[in-house]
Amino acid sequence: MSIYLGVNIDHIATLRQARGTIYPSPIEAALLCEKSGADSITLHLREDRRHIQDNDVKVLKEKITTKMNLEMAATDEMVEIASKIKPEDCCLVPEKREELTTEGGLDIVSQINRITNVCNKLQDANIKVSLFIDAEKSQVDAAKKCGAKIIELHTGHYANATNKEQQLLELNKIKTMASYANKIGLQVNAGHGLTIENTYAIAKLPEVVELNIGHSIIARAVFIGLEKATREIKNLMLTARK
Ligand code: PXP
Repeated sequence: MSIYLGVNIDHIATLRQARGTIYPSPIEAALLCEKSGADSITLHLREDRRHIQDNDVKVLKEKITTKMNLEMAATDEMVEIASKIKPEDCCLVPEKREELTTEGGLDIVSQINRITNVCNKLQDANIKVSLFIDAEKSQVDAAKKCGAKIIELHTGHYANATNKEQQLLELNKIKTMASYANKIGLQVNAGHGLTIENTYAIAKLPEVVELNIGHSIIARAVFIGLEKATREIKNLMLTARK
C-alpha cells in the first residue's frame, strides 16, 4: 500500500504575517508542493489567526488540485467555517492560545460528547474527519466511539525524544497503536515534528496511510527550495515503503 504526503503550509503564512506583507503566498507555495509530490495541502486555521487567515482557506480551496486537510479546534466557529468551505478532510486538534505549536493530542476521552457532535456535523457536510491523538489505547477507543473514521497519531513525543531509548519507546507506542487502530477499522495517519532524519521509521509502519509534515519542509526550503524539500521527503517516505 502506498503512503501519502500532506504538506502543511502554515509557516509560509507565518513568514508573511511576521511583516504584514502580501508575500510569501501560501497559495503559490501550495501549488508548488502539489507539483512536487504533495498529495494534499494541510493548514491550520487557529483561533488567534497567527498564520493562516480566513481568506487563505477560501482561496486555497478554490486553487488547489489535490485535497485540503483543514486542521482546527472543535469549536462552533470552526465547524461553521468548515461547513461553508467544505475541505475534503478536517483534522480536529487541541488548541491553546499560549502554545508555540500543537503540543499534544486531543483528549477525546474527557469530551466524548462534544467531539461526537462535531464529527457528526462535519460528516453531515461530507467532510472526512480525523482526530489528532496521542498513541494511547484509551484515546484510540474514544476516537472510534465518536464515529470518526480516521485518526492522526501525534508523533511529536517521538520527534522530540532526547535519546535513542526514549525515541524507540515512543516509536513502539505509535507502532502498537497504529496496528490496533487499523484492526478496529480506523484509517491511521501520523504527523508532527517529522523531519528527514526521523520520518523513515514512521513511514515504514505499514498501517500509516498519510503523513502531515510542515515545519521541517518549510525550514529546509530556505536552503534547497520548496520543490526539492517536498520531493526529498516524499521520496524518503516512498523508499521506506518499498
Ligand atoms: N499534524 C497536525 C495535526 C498538526 O497540528 C501539525 C502542526 O500544525 C502537523 C501535523 C505538522 O507538524 P509539523 O509542522 O511539526 O511538521
